[in-house]
Amino acid sequence: MPLLKSSFLDLQGLSIEKIHQLFSLARKIKTSGLPPKFRGETLGLLFFEASTRTRMSFETAAYRVGLGPILLDGGLKTSLEKGESIEDSIYNVAAMRPRFLVIRCGDDVDLKEVAQNISVPIINAGWGKQGHPTQALLDAFTMVENLGDLRGRKILFLGDIRHSRVAASHFELLKILGAEIALCGPEEFMPLKHEHKYFGQLSEALSWADVAMALRCQFERHVTGVHFSKETYRAQFGLNSENLKKFSSKGLIMHPGPINHGIEMETEVLNDPRCRVLDQVTHGVYLREALLRSMMGQEYTE
Ligand code: NCD
Repeated sequence: MPLLKSSFLDLQGLSIEKIHQLFSLARKIKTSGLPPKFRGETLGLLFFEASTRTRMSFETAAYRVGLGPILLDGGLKTSLEKGESIEDSIYNVAAMRPRFLVIRCGDDVDLKEVAQNISVPIINAGWGKQGHPTQALLDAFTMVENLGDLRGRKILFLGDIRHSRVAASHFELLKILGAEIALCGPEEFMPLKHEHKYFGQLSEALSWADVAMALRCQFERHVTGVHFSKETYRAQFGLNSENLKKFSSKGLIMHPGPINHGIEMETEVLNDPRCRVLDQVTHGVYLREALLRSMMGQEYTE
């Protein structure tokens, strides 16, 4: 450590060793906690797209580390309403010298370029369709905590993979961690190009997998509309207690949230003992605290 000195926009350049170091730190935080050591500085949170889990998870992690979270909520009254651009908003908050900027925005913003123009490191909290690296890390941390080493483990992504930045980051991360990936869902939800195993039948996919990661149907990103109705999706690919009989008794059912109940999964699935959906959220705070501490340097990890 430090894991990273500058911005954290994607998972490129992370080795399996560094990822496991980060997981060890998250585990230490989970089991015994670490004292807040960073009082007097701030963490800028700039959310230009909707968020519940990611934003509040970073806010919680900031408090636990000792950074004061300052929030620009793109949905509420800000100078965006007066026509100020997202880029200008970021530069102005950066000028207040927070320790880091946690940013969620669309594909229209070039976060890489923005990061080059400021000295404050940026953490990607969901960038358009490109990636959501801390979500992939917290999901993988949840898998490791339950299953151990992921090498050779079979991870199934189910649903709207084409529009999912979570899946995009997982493809990078799980490759580094040595897991096997398969996809299942309507063909129009599959990435245009991919190198993974594909299942058209949910029952076959569930028999294959150690982890079933359902993904939200990203209706807001379906620019041309989809031909698949919600009812057909639910009938063919929605998880329920009946079709989950095909799934391993030691398997994990996951979803990054928010869940469309009665589309990706029935509400009853949340009570299945294999379901880890709320554990993902809890682990998200540990993982993000570990990331902030490791980006701050060694002295904040002890
Ligand atoms: C995801 C996101 O925003 O990319 N949610 C999250 O951060 N927990 C997934 C989604 O919106 O479907």
